[in-house]
Amino acid sequence: MAESVRTLEMKNISIEFPGVKALSNVNFSMRSGEIRAVVGANGAGKSTLMKVLAGANETYTGDILIDSKPCEIRNPRSAKDLGIELVYQEVDTALFPYLSVAENIMFNNIVTGMKGRALIHWKGINKAAREILDRLHMDIDVTRKMSSLSLAQKQMVLIARAVRERCRFLILDEPTAPLSLGEVAELFRITKELASRENVGIIFISHRLPELFEICQSLTVMKDGQVVANKSVDGSLTTQEIVNLMLGRSFEENFPKRKVAIGETLVEAEHLADEEGKVRDVSFTVRSGEIVGVCGLVGAGKTELCKLLFGAGGMRSGSLRCRGKSIKVRNPTQAVRQKIALVPEERRKEGVLVSEPVYFNLSAACLDKFTNRFSFVQRRKELENAKKLVADLGVKTPSVFQRVRYLSGGNQQKVAVGKWLASDSDFYMLDEPTKGVDVGAKRDIFQLIQKLAADGKAVLYASSEINEILAITDRVYVMYNGRFAAELVTEKTSEEEILYYAAGGKK
Ligand SMILES: Nc1ncnc2c1ncn2[C@@H]1O[C@H](COP(=O)(O)OP(=O)(O)OP(=O)(O)O)[C@@H](O)[C@H]1O
Ligand SMILES: [Mg+2]
Repeated sequence: MAESVRTLEMKNISIEFPGVKALSNVNFSMRSGEIRAVVGANGAGKSTLMKVLAGANETYTGDILIDSKPCEIRNPRSAKDLGIELVYQEVDTALFPYLSVAENIMFNNIVTGMKGRALIHWKGINKAAREILDRLHMDIDVTRKMSSLSLAQKQMVLIARAVRERCRFLILDEPTAPLSLGEVAELFRITKELASRENVGIIFISHRLPELFEICQSLTVMKDGQVVANKSVDGSLTTQEIVNLMLGRSFEENFPKRKVAIGETLVEAEHLADEEGKVRDVSFTVRSGEIVGVCGLVGAGKTELCKLLFGAGGMRSGSLRCRGKSIKVRNPTQAVRQKIALVPEERRKEGVLVSEPVYFNLSAACLDKFTNRFSFVQRRKELENAKKLVADLGVKTPSVFQRVRYLSGGNQQKVAVGKWLASDSDFYMLDEPTKGVDVGAKRDIFQLIQKLAADGKAVLYASSEINEILAITDRVYVMYNGRFAAELVTEKTSEEEILYYAAGGKK
């Protein structure tokens, strides 16, 4: 049953952080039942604007009106009372891993319900949680521990928690970044249903522009803390036009592949298997100057393979050779000593130290380059290295002294990538390095990877984005269910062929 239309308006919203004018005079408006995309380059201000709505940026100036009525949103509680819910970019931080699904969904009710009441009605909580999941046609057992769920399921739980009460505006900040194609379809189904059946207004942030055409009716483009365009998404709008507006210049989204002489075999793995059965009998080679792709759907085992090679997973069997010499990698420290680098998938957990400054993160993987780092000269070298990387990757930060936690999601990712690119390794593994980065930054990252290859390094590029694999690799292994299902030469293959093997197709 659709309720009467509600409107949401933000007028002249500005916010300043030390050294950063994150939003300046932003106007934003939408109505319930609408699905509106918010796009923009990394650091454009998307998350900051949405945090204002959700009561997490209480120092904003400007006006917020709901149904033309002015309201102050200075804390999360008042946002919730107005029916505004935000599902954050980093799903894990918002959940309680050791509680059940039901407890996570009903968390706020448990806490408020406990005041003055000694008894928690567990059966009631499970039932209420199940009703919400049923309403959204989500098939998840409410008694399961949160930590046992996949990322996609965790996100579903967050959405369920958000719409538990009378949610009128739901903000999804890059919800699809960690999801597989099937999971994206499921998320879109739920999103559309919430909009059309329950009249929820949905704000959808994403760097995967093509998907916006599938579910959004309208689009707001942000650049450097301002709104630069509002568009309706119809047949006449193109991805190219959006990109141009985002970056403020015309931009060709093609990545010219540099031809690099491919040398001798640098890395050789034979019959690798891990203890959990996520990697099963994997053998491959990477030559010097070569960029080898590992392509597979989310969950195929790419991340586990990279971790195994980096000494961060339990090795059951198999052997690894580097430059013809047999090596043992029992932990990441040994991996680094063997000149193996890994840009991990989960950046906040494993890729960066969020409470340390940018420069520290960028030199953490190559401290030996700056040994005796407390002397003035060495420190200067360290800072120079950091400044160069910040420029090469276009990291948006007021200075290299900024703590990483204050960077936008995509800029944190750039630091996670940059940190390893600066290390002096022989074998580089990158696990979904472009997740959450904008198109411009993606090209910068690609250029740095190609430079590594040109310098004779061996690169393993793990991704579920077939277009990236086709753009940057020389050769590709398609992974399915823990095994390499096919080995293909990039120039001679196609999206269809890769997808065929990635989906379990046989030769
Ligand atoms: N708490 C904070 N302290 C200092 N600077 C901040 C803070 N929060 C955000 N910023 C800065 O504000 C700007 C906008 O960041 P925001 O996170 O909104 O970008 P975004 O558009 O969401 O980017 P992304 O696509 O990378 O997620 C960035 O320059 C960021 O570094
Ligand atoms: Mg963001």
